[in-house]
Amino acid sequence: MKVLGGPASQLLGSRVAREIGCELAIVEFKQFPDGELYLRVTEELDGDTLVVQSTTSNDDIVYLLQLIDAASDGYLRVVIPYFGYARQDKRFKLGEPISARAIAQTIGADEAYVVNIHDPASLDYFQLRSGKKAVSLSAARLIGTHLKSMEFTSPLLIAPDEGATALVSDVSQAMGCEFDVLVKKRVTSEHVEIQPKTVDVDAREVIVVDDMISTGGTMAEAIKLLRGQGARQVHVACIHPVLSLNARLRLYRAGVDSIIATDTIEKAESVISVAPLIKDGIEGR
Ligand code: R5P
Repeated sequence: MKVLGGPASQLLGSRVAREIGCELAIVEFKQFPDGELYLRVTEELDGDTLVVQSTTSNDDIVYLLQLIDAASDGYLRVVIPYFGYARQDKRFKLGEPISARAIAQTIGADEAYVVNIHDPASLDYFQLRSGKKAVSLSAARLIGTHLKSMEFTSPLLIAPDEGATALVSDVSQAMGCEFDVLVKKRVTSEHVEIQPKTVDVDAREVIVVDDMISTGGTMAEAIKLLRGQGARQVHVACIHPVLSLNARLRLYRAGVDSIIATDTIEKAESVISVAPLIKDGIEGR
């Protein structure tokens, strides 16, 4: 099997190839003056290919489709560590597309893997040519193990909203630490208000965990609230560090101690690699 790392996942693609012990192919990418994208796999494939490419931008989606087409002759596994548009997984208002479905249906592969997709129900939108079901792998255990290695003295995990409860519960099991949940109300697309639950965070190291940090609005409110309640340290951890716009400024201004994330999106904060998770997911199939 050869691994093709897309432009958004060069590091993770390389780590996956090393983890599995197979060859990493060289792919060239470029953009034409009119904005169209081009890529070329510079070597022959052996009929068994693994594509790794997150879709954090529209260009990433085009590159993913090009990689799939370039490798479509043999057996093809596609890993989309961060599957963009996953939050538009329903028709919330009349006339809207189900964007997650529109994109999932373009994935012409034999197997597809994503990491902590926003809602696992979206996996049914993939129509794989083998008839197999797409798989969402959970990085909760990797995050829990990493947090445990930080050797906090009195840690408490917090889910910033009820939607994050299952994830935080899984992280807490791996870490061996208790958790609680805050209640979130979204006011606009960029602003959220958080109503505190009765959480005694005084003098504790609090780690707020969510599937993704996008604008940082959810986390910034949580950090301020927890600081106000006397938390000694407040860290944030997420699977997908989207960190759009001025998210980092908002988090540090709110008083965060550190931002911890995985490499489903390759950012400075991506200190946990999901490569072992992808290896286990593929080999366990
Ligand atoms: C929401 O459903 C997600 O789990 C995250 O809480 C949300 O996407 C974070 O967005 P932001 O960083 O913009 O508040």
